Amino acid sequence: MKTIVGLLIIAAASTALDPPSNFKLCKRNQPNYNECIADAATKAVQSLAGGLKPFKILPLEPLTIDNIQIGESDGSVSLMQEYKNTQLYGITKDLVIKNYKIDFDKCILESDSYSPQVEFVADYKIDGKILLLPIKGSGKSNITMFNLITHTVITCETFEKKGETYLKAKKYDVKFIPEKVSLRFDNLFNGDSILGEQMNKFLNENSNLLFKELQGPYEESFGLVFRKITNDIFTRVPMNKLFPLT
Ligand SMILES: *[C@@H]1O[C@H](CO)[C@@H](O)[C@H](O)[C@H]1NC(C)=O
Repeated sequence: MKTIVGLLIIAAASTALDPPSNFKLCKRNQPNYNECIADAATKAVQSLAGGLKPFKILPLEPLTIDNIQIGESDGSVSLMQEYKNTQLYGITKDLVIKNYKIDFDKCILESDSYSPQVEFVADYKIDGKILLLPIKGSGKSNITMFNLITHTVITCETFEKKGETYLKAKKYDVKFIPEKVSLRFDNLFNGDSILGEQMNKFLNENSNLLFKELQGPYEESFGLVFRKITNDIFTRVPMNKLFPLT
């Protein structure tokens, strides 16, 4: 294992913690290690639905993410979008993580996960044009991804603390690949229900147009939240306890 001992400032408990008692552990030299890790990761994320007090991890259901602001673009969609108080529902429900691969030498953890339904519910503000049609409004929005595959690549590094080696996620890249996206914007056009319904219908018939613009910022916010959660565990539990060799 390549050891990168940097001058890391780790805002974590200074004493080593044991893995959460309900975490399934896999031995690195066991057969079917990747399958074991995929199953362990699935159960670990599901167990975090209600949070994890000793690790100061807040509940994942729902998960609050940062405000998202998306500017105007030059493409067919030219509009300003703002999402506040965004809550994510469904990331742990019926979750299945698969294709888990860990390269301990390069410090890369890669996986795919499947979720039947993930909802972004937020207070939105939107103003601009979509395919030449004006759109404007503010209120509650609900953007739901169905049969979502999330491809995740975590790039990590190791560091030493009090004679123990720990992992730290440097980057947490996610890519959302939903089978279908549904969009709902309440109170468009100052609550004009006829125009509002027409626009919602139009948006759903062209859901990839708007989602294409939302996807990047959503993936980024999601990755930031999950990097933090991962590090809440990685930087507190020594690596050889979380990923025992034998
Ligand atoms: C969001 O929309 C989806 C799909 O229509 C629906 O199943 C879900 O209940 C909605 N969520 C909320 C919180 O309104």
